[in-house]
Amino acid sequence: MKSIFYTRFFILLPWILIVIIVIDIDTKRLSVRNTASFYLSRLGNVQQQRQVVRTTRSSSSTTSSSSSGSNATSLPVIYAITPTYSRAVQKAELTRLANTFRQVPQFHWIVVEDSNSHTELVSRFLARSGLRYTHLNVFTPRRFKRTGMPRATEQRNLALGWLRGHRSVKDKGVVFFADDDNTYSLALFEEMRSTRRVSVWPVGLVGGRRYERPLVEEGKVVGWYTGWKADRPFAIDMAGFAVNLQVILSNPRALFKRRGAKPGMQESDFLKQITKVEDLEPKAKNCTQVLVWHTRTEKVNLGNEPKRQQDSVYIEV
Ligand code: UGA
Ligand code: MN
Repeated sequence: MKSIFYTRFFILLPWILIVIIVIDIDTKRLSVRNTASFYLSRLGNVQQQRQVVRTTRSSSSTTSSSSSGSNATSLPVIYAITPTYSRAVQKAELTRLANTFRQVPQFHWIVVEDSNSHTELVSRFLARSGLRYTHLNVFTPRRFKRTGMPRATEQRNLALGWLRGHRSVKDKGVVFFADDDNTYSLALFEEMRSTRRVSVWPVGLVGGRRYERPLVEEGKVVGWYTGWKADRPFAIDMAGFAVNLQVILSNPRALFKRRGAKPGMQESDFLKQITKVEDLEPKAKNCTQVLVWHTRTEKVNLGNEPKRQQDSVYIEV
């Protein structure tokens, strides 16, 4: 019995070594981490990632994630809510986001399409993303699609409703509103993960300035550095705060408003339902680091798209 075991072990040994060398060439990280335990833990990670891909493939009409709320690790799950709508740059935006989010541990992407049904583009994109996700949709009524009207109100509210219906007191999580046209550093997610109630941090390239930020004194938010509508109760962009999942669940009526909503007031109107300025938790070195940018994407020039005689094949962009 023992000898069979040893024979098999020695047959397998060279193959294990080859795998280790290949992984090493791939990562170019030999000089930093070259212990056997490192390779074994990497193999573990690969298996974990595959599992995530499989869970996301089983889809239903409202959600494509079959994951339960139970955490594989003790880290709180980051629920990023992304409203999105069909336009020439949509897939490029989602690609940039997915490339970032894939590197964030314990991450759950809630993508809410501004559409009457799941589009093929987004469904296919999410299925191939390798991320744990939930795919929802709700169409913004035409009367709200005007300049000066807040965007994505219905989509964010639908995502909050999903969390309230599918998560409970036993789930540890942090909820963040991640618009599809921003740029997110990985460090941002580790900052927000420790949010106890509501946390805040600076946002770059917003409010007509290089950045906006909460002003902090002795660990408390005492005001706002902003160039735009300084009288907002919470002078902060949607990308500048995160909320503990339990705060979302214990304030079931906290929603984004349509009635009486004024431009730029969505964040304040929402935040004042769940917190006070003095209770905010400053992150990113007392709000002195920019870890997220309100980049926005240039309107794409399609001036030379042929009206007739288009390409002979359909190509998704
Ligand atoms: C600013 C804020 O950063 C947004 O969080 C806020 O929702 C928005 O103002 C507002 O006016 O309500 P801005 O760059 O002007 O952002 O807005 P967009 O990025 O165009 O829209 C915010 C999100 O809503 C994006 O994820 C976008 O894909 C989505 N959206 C936009 C829709 O789902 N439907 C639309 O018709 C427009
Ligand atoms: Mn934006």
